[in-house]
Amino acid sequence: MGKVGFGVAVGIAVVTCVVAAAVVGKRVKSRRKWMRVVALLNEFEEACATPVTRLRQVVDAMAVEMHAGLASEGGSKLKMLLTSVDKLPNGSEKGIYYALHLGGTNFRVLRVQLGGRTSGIIRHDVERKPIPEDLMTSTSEDLFDFIATSLKEFVEKEDNKDSDCFSVRRRELGFTFSFPVKQTSVSSGILMKWTKGFLIRDMVGKDVCECLQQAFTKKGLAMHVAALVNDTVGTLALGHYNDEDTVAAVIIGTGTNACYLERADAIIKSQGLPTSSGGMVVNMEWGNFWSSHLPRTSYDIELDAESPNPNDQGFEKMISGMYLGEIMRRVILRMSQESDILGPVSSSLRETFALRTPLMAAMHEDESPDLFKVARILNEVLGIPDVPLKVRKLVVNICDVVTQRAARLAAAGIVGILKKIGRDGSGGVASSRSKITSTKLRRSVVAVEGGLYANYRIFREYLNEAVAEILGEECAPFVVLNPTEDGAGIGAALLAATYSSSDTVDT
Ligand code: BGC
Repeated sequence: MGKVGFGVAVGIAVVTCVVAAAVVGKRVKSRRKWMRVVALLNEFEEACATPVTRLRQVVDAMAVEMHAGLASEGGSKLKMLLTSVDKLPNGSEKGIYYALHLGGTNFRVLRVQLGGRTSGIIRHDVERKPIPEDLMTSTSEDLFDFIATSLKEFVEKEDNKDSDCFSVRRRELGFTFSFPVKQTSVSSGILMKWTKGFLIRDMVGKDVCECLQQAFTKKGLAMHVAALVNDTVGTLALGHYNDEDTVAAVIIGTGTNACYLERADAIIKSQGLPTSSGGMVVNMEWGNFWSSHLPRTSYDIELDAESPNPNDQGFEKMISGMYLGEIMRRVILRMSQESDILGPVSSSLRETFALRTPLMAAMHEDESPDLFKVARILNEVLGIPDVPLKVRKLVVNICDVVTQRAARLAAAGIVGILKKIGRDGSGGVASSRSKITSTKLRRSVVAVEGGLYANYRIFREYLNEAVAEILGEECAPFVVLNPTEDGAGIGAALLAATYSSSDTVDT
């Protein structure tokens, strides 16, 4: 080999080494970034962990807080609101009743025809409308005008369809208002605060039914509000109407909450409470539950701090449909900021609430081999194109962590209620689980409603499994989670029938 040839060979060898070093360097760097993202996922997973021992601590904390909230006004973050509902529909209700349901993403108007003991619910018509976003932060007058107009249109349409309704002597309505209300009677109550992104300041402290009745008068609509109820209470009413063993109702949708039937003598803060049945439905407002046992992460803390209601609705912010997609977005954002595996941080990814929970559910439940839907949603919604398969898989893992924690915490909440009323087989708050005796076990049904539970299969499965896991195999068969549909609205119509002055009840 001549000098020239030798020089060329050395040159090629040097270039090859440099290229190889660059390739290896790049690989090492990208591996390091991948490891960083995996580490973030692992940290997140650990911080969200809900082993059954922790869930049982949440169960106990829930039951203890329920006692505290019933003992004195302000005794707990759980408001334990008395609903004035001391009797639930029993099947004898007859006639045509209306219901309005305001509370989550949709607004519903219903007309329910009840046929008494022989025919039950003969028919129900529902119309759903998305709530225009600007009304959620507008004035009470705008909001109630919209509600009254929607109801008026619905009533006119139904009247044209069905001449039967002229037999209705007076139109009676159940109003499901899914926010914390201090009831002053079964058909009146004061709004305590807004949740779920609603913020109409002039409304807080006002009587909800008065506002509604004024809007009816303005629109010339002859309708009487016979019952003002929380959505949980409507759901309990329908649940109990269908199955008398129903003791509680839970909503897991845009927001989350629960109510249950409590003995009057256990409501210490209102001793001497006059009830016709010896009990009353208590609206727990469990969205505001808090306990040091809840597995809280830095993402939850940031979400809360930047929300319109910081330090409020802590349990709801870990569980409900309004927030799960947002927690997920925050995790992806952090990963994107700490590594370039998702490309440059997109402006959509920085936008709060850019990822809605139904889309997160769609990614989680994507069963295509190449996770096609995950790629599409990341691209179209969060502005992250060309995501490699291994990163798509990681995104599905994030969905899983967020959802599993939410579902298992909701399950612990449900068992907490069962514990408070002595239906979890443990003999109540003070007793230990070892005292289970089968004589204590009674069939207990919990009505469950809300889009997250109804439409997100994996969430539902995690929740159902966790309830059984916490209760243990001896007690679990006695507890039934019963999904209801439109219970919040139909239940309000049933309660309007139960409490209306013009009801036609056959006995
Ligand atoms: C409200 C509750 C309601 C729940 C479910 C919460 O944000 O405070 O009153 O029952 O959402 O809709």
